[in-house]
Amino acid sequence: MDHLIRGIHHVTSGVGAAQEDINFFAEIVGQRMVKQTVLFDGELPIYHLYYGNRDAQVGTIMTTFPYKQAGIRARKGSGQVKITSYTAPESSLEFWLKHFDKHGIEHGKIETRFGQKRVHFYHPTGLEFEIVGDDSDERNGWTTDEISENDAVRGFHSVTMSVREIGEQSRFLQEALGFKMTGQDGNYYQFETGKGGAQKTVYLVHEPDVPQGSWILGEGTVHHVAFAVQNDEAAQKVKLHLEGLGYTDASEIKDRNYFHSVYVRSPGGILCEIATSDIGFAIDEPMEELGSNKLLPPWKEADREQILATLEPIVNPQITVKNS
Ligand SMILES: [Fe+2]
Repeated sequence: MDHLIRGIHHVTSGVGAAQEDINFFAEIVGQRMVKQTVLFDGELPIYHLYYGNRDAQVGTIMTTFPYKQAGIRARKGSGQVKITSYTAPESSLEFWLKHFDKHGIEHGKIETRFGQKRVHFYHPTGLEFEIVGDDSDERNGWTTDEISENDAVRGFHSVTMSVREIGEQSRFLQEALGFKMTGQDGNYYQFETGKGGAQKTVYLVHEPDVPQGSWILGEGTVHHVAFAVQNDEAAQKVKLHLEGLGYTDASEIKDRNYFHSVYVRSPGGILCEIATSDIGFAIDEPMEELGSNKLLPPWKEADREQILATLEPIVNPQITVKNS
């Protein structure tokens, strides 16, 4: 599967209030708002917000469901993605420490793991993030009044999955998804796909005493990580491969409007998604207007007024388009 899985596609988390989340990603992490839409599954009206780098590339996309309005909290624990990591130039880490302090964002000191310097920080709802110093990442960062080109995050570096046992999750990453184990640092295990590095890295952290976290959609946890394949044909091949190995709970291919997806529960408890890369975010608003409009998939358009009336009002602070 190493020729089919190309690294991380997106990460999806449950967060608190919608505006608080927009302010965090747009102003603290300095991400471009890429899409304002709604949860496609179930009956409950919930926003689905997308953020990414300047080019809204696969491998930079964070998506969030603001669950505070619905009053549903999820419990953090093992069997979840614990840390979502972004890359930025190594020389920017001092800037990030000051930036977090200025905005009252809880963060750690500069630490080194697997030979790379990194800074750990928290989303207001408790989600854990990291900025990893990586000068080899040439993706285009989004800039803001406070975050220059030299400091901007480029996209995802990795996700860190918390597991109570390494064995079967390691086997899943290698046999089912085509990653290779490339190192160990304390209780962290490193897996990479393709040429490795930014966007192509997954860590397992061995936390045998941490109770299993929630699988539900709710405030305060990562719900799943998606891995990128090129197109429907590749997604179908991965689905058959998963089923052949015995992971028979691989879902049907779902239409997520901007990509097509297969979901599979991994042995460590983490929900993994296989998502296609050939549709993208410019299908219902032009690239320069990404994130400016409230968009629904065609099959929900008939209920637009009713859906939007139930959702809290939000403002995208980037509505005057920058970086164009
Ligand atoms: Fe997803």
